[in-house]
Amino acid sequence: MSREPLQAEPFKIKVVEPIKLPPREYREKKIIEGDYNLFTLKRDDIYIDLLTDSGTSAMSDNQWAGIMLGDESYAGGRSFDHLRQAVKNVLGFEYVIPTHQGRPAESFLFQTLMKEGSFVPFNMPFDTTGANIKAGGGTYIECVYDSAYESKEVLPFKGNIDLDKLKGVLREKGADKIPFIMITITNNTGGGQPVSIANMREVKMLADQHGIPLFFDAARCVENAYFIQQREEGYREKTIAEIVQEELSYAEGCTFSCKKDALVNMGGMIALRDKELYDRIIPLLILKEGFITYGGMSGRDEEALARGLYEMIDDEYIANRVQQVEYLGQRINEYGIPTVLPIGGHAVFVDAAAFFPHISQSQFPAEVLAVELYRECGVRGVGLGALCFMEEDEEGGEIHYPKLELFRLTIPRRVYTNRHMDVIADGLKRVWDRRESVKGLKIKWAPGVLRHFLAKLEPV
Ligand code: F0G
Repeated sequence: MSREPLQAEPFKIKVVEPIKLPPREYREKKIIEGDYNLFTLKRDDIYIDLLTDSGTSAMSDNQWAGIMLGDESYAGGRSFDHLRQAVKNVLGFEYVIPTHQGRPAESFLFQTLMKEGSFVPFNMPFDTTGANIKAGGGTYIECVYDSAYESKEVLPFKGNIDLDKLKGVLREKGADKIPFIMITITNNTGGGQPVSIANMREVKMLADQHGIPLFFDAARCVENAYFIQQREEGYREKTIAEIVQEELSYAEGCTFSCKKDALVNMGGMIALRDKELYDRIIPLLILKEGFITYGGMSGRDEEALARGLYEMIDDEYIANRVQQVEYLGQRINEYGIPTVLPIGGHAVFVDAAAFFPHISQSQFPAEVLAVELYRECGVRGVGLGALCFMEEDEEGGEIHYPKLELFRLTIPRRVYTNRHMDVIADGLKRVWDRRESVKGLKIKWAPGVLRHFLAKLEPV
């Protein structure tokens, strides 16, 4: 298939939402008032918000039209039929369990499949996903290649599962202790890095040999498909729709936070092939979310999601989406600023430890960078480093720091233009130029769990 060179966004803008850069003195004040934690900021305090790509997409006119047509019947709603049909056509699964976002989907699936003492091999789980494994009495085991923890190593599929590691886990723990294997596509925690079809196929073969089902966390399965199309031998001529179908054909089912690739502001699901497993999960859905045809969503949410599922697999849309993230990454790399390489599908992950080599991990370089970028240009990103992931020994002794200390600039879908990307890159460059004079942060107060959302910090 021949493609035109892409010139610009494959959409025009019908509705706009004003944003303003608040004055520098105001930003300084907000940093202090908010105890150096950008989660305290209000929408109007921020110029460009890159906290997350989750639930922040701009919906299309077609999706908004669907909102008006949503059918709010308690049982047997028409919008659920549209969603179910879209899931079947786009993702290839017969059964859908609608939830309000990704994490209840994880919780229901894991509770149903796991028991106390289970082990679940992953490439890498997202933090709520890992927490849901633990909450079910299980332990997850990261089986991604070591290179995933090396930000500078450029490999096409850094989200891949290391089969030797996986075989080791299967040998050591035994198949009866492993209720399922799971792959996150793309691997958010490891920098939005993709997983190849070849790797999915091999993991699936191994899983079959041991009689273990394979599931995907498919939140960003379309961005993953774009990387396959661009990087994997034999996929250049395939459409995104075909690649998404093939990816998911290797899974028994998936959990899906629809707030990402599926272009809605709220919604999630479990999609399955197996009626028997579906029947085991739905009592949990009815208990915790709602009836089987709406679960955690309103009919209008389901209608917007059904349309979003078709829109997300448009070849021009997804190419433009991932290329915008790449554009920002390139601009940042041209200034010599270290990031996870290659640039991920949904975000640029700046290596905050390398950005501030004079600030130790105990002084939270990722949060420091978040504060400094906001101070510089009103842009909010998110620290994903020690503050988020460090763990203390049970006896309250040694602190274990995460391997990566990253600052994530997460790009919402269809929301900002490349001019915004320029402003972000230039602001980051100004922080880079004065990096040596920047000092670390320390904890003033922090809760026991979910530390980085609520922690109060202060300069050392
Ligand atoms: N899986 C992945 C890969 C995710 O990135 C997320 C959320 C979830 C599951 C959970 O889904 O939020 O709908 O309950 N990631 C967001 C982020 C919050 O900012 O990366 P959810």
